[in-house]
Amino acid sequence: SEKTPAQGLHIVITAGPTREPLDPVRYLSNHSSGKMGFALAGAAVELGAQVSLISGPVSLPTPAGVARIDVETALQMHEASRRLASECDIFIGCAAVADYRAEAASEHKIKKRDGEDGLTLRLIKNPDIIADIANERDAAGGRPFVVGFAAETRDLEAYARDKLKRKRLDMIVANDVSTEGLGFGADDNAALLLWRDGEGEGGASLPPQPKTRLARAVIERALGCLSIPPVH
Ligand code: C5P
Repeated sequence: SEKTPAQGLHIVITAGPTREPLDPVRYLSNHSSGKMGFALAGAAVELGAQVSLISGPVSLPTPAGVARIDVETALQMHEASRRLASECDIFIGCAAVADYRAEAASEHKIKKRDGEDGLTLRLIKNPDIIADIANERDAAGGRPFVVGFAAETRDLEAYARDKLKRKRLDMIVANDVSTEGLGFGADDNAALLLWRDGEGEGGASLPPQPKTRLARAVIERALGCLSIPPVH
């Protein structure tokens, strides 16, 4: 119906940071608050979707009606994402996934060494969750509509278009994170939406607004694209 255009659709969203252990008491992470991903989950429920929210460690309440799956590491987020992506219609990767993890987390607390000024940690790359999902096909050759995010400090459109193509996404939400009061941790955000529309590419610029309103606009745009035949 008009008020619940996502009725009958399953939308999976990743949100928040990941936490990569170094030893039993320490980790690598980032400042992602999870607000945008949680706003997307709330908006998707309001539009009538069944929503699964795969969240890294954040301190936010779960929006009503959302099935939340808590994870810590990128590998855990990868596993939960692949499991749920195979049964959803739209996959939105909003999480700030750590690019690297410790090659081997220490079993015991790493001790400070006398007489040595430095400490070298060996890191290895985490999987690119959204790129894997965009590249996997089910037995029928299908996969969900995949929406990614791009946080950039310069050349927003060029980097976002490159990411859209390189990761084989269907749509990307690009944020200029160098703007004060927007993006990371803030309640407001602005975005450039880019998508593939069958023939070429479409785009829309969304002005600064509360993340809740921006979230609704992102979901509505994705729903609008679902009716367009995929180009892959
Ligand atoms: O390449 P970059 O990290 O800027 O791309 C951001 C997009 O890719 C986001 O949608 C983010 O959730 C996703 N991503 C991912 N797994 C990673 C890194 C990024 O799903 N390891």
